Order: sequence, then C-alpha cells, then structure tokens
Amino acid sequence: MDRVILVGFMGCGKSTLGKKLANRMGIPFLDSDAEIEKGVLMSVGEIFGAFGESRFREIETEFLDTLNEEGSFVLATGGGMPCFHRNMDKLNALGTTFYLERSPKELANRLFNAKTKRPLIDGLSESDLLRFIEDKLAEREEAYKQANFVLSREEQTPAQIEEFMELLKK
Ligand code: S3P
Repeated sequence: MDRVILVGFMGCGKSTLGKKLANRMGIPFLDSDAEIEKGVLMSVGEIFGAFGESRFREIETEFLDTLNEEGSFVLATGGGMPCFHRNMDKLNALGTTFYLERSPKELANRLFNAKTKRPLIDGLSESDLLRFIEDKLAEREEAYKQANFVLSREEQTPAQIEEFMELLKK
C-alpha cells in the first residue's frame, strides 16, 4: 500500500504536485479541502464564514480520521491541517509525509496571484501578505518539519517522491 501525504503552507503546490504524482503512481488523489467541501456541500470560505475556523479544524480532523479505511492514495492536506489537534502525528501514522518547503517570499508571490479563495489571506495587500506568511510559517514550521521528508524546491517533483517511496520498500 502506498500512502503519500503532502504538507506545507498554502500555495506551496501540494495539489498540483499531488495530482501529477497520483497519476504517475496510478493511485487515487485526495485533496482535503475538496473532500471536505464535497462532504459539507459548502466551500472552505463558507465554512469559515458560517462556523468559524475552529469548527473547520474539527471537520479537518474528522476527515483525517476517515482515511484509515482507505487503501493507497496521494493526499494534499490543507495548509493548517498538520498544525491542529496533533494531526501531524496522525498523518505520520497514516502514511509517508513530505513537507514541501518554500520561502515566505516565494509563497507570497504565488499566493498574491492565486485564483483559489483562501479565507485567512483574503484581501491582504502584498506587504501584509508577506508579513502574515512570515509569522504563520514561523508558528507552523515545527509541525511541518515533523514530516518524514523535508523537500527542497528542487526535490519537489513526482519522480523524486516516487524514488523516496521506492527506497522505503528496500
Ligand atoms: C488553510 C489552507 C487552505 C485551506 C484553508 C486554511 C490554512 O488550504 O485549508 O483556507 O490554514 O493554511 P491550502 O493549503 O490548500 O490552500
């Protein structure tokens, strides 16, 4: 069974990389935000707006707890998932975790022009966004860095992750 779990800050590329990797490995791709939206029939923004962030964090953990039943998959986690309710421990128990490390500057550039709506950064100016990312990343890195593998920007490719997964089998 292959379970690949991608963690990292908003905008680091978990979903894009995850889809390509799942395709290459021939296993299902799961995006935690998309799965939650399907389950609740609301967008992440609507969930934050109607019930608040803390309820969203509970829903994330409830979703995570359902994954024990699944077989192989590539999972792109929401950026905050590993940082609440000891979820990073659960993710490490569930499969092989990879942290996609990116600098705050790079994340800010990617997020400033992103089309996806993200309630935590909605409406921030470019400079406020950078400051927000620097602060949040400093808070969250301790959790992200508990991943089995910390991947530099150059290592964030489907081929590289597949290679690490193969190495673990030897
Ligand atoms: C969040 C990241 C988002 C989404 C929600 C909160 C966060 O997912 O779960 O907007 O707290 O970092 P992405 O990392 O896929 O943007």
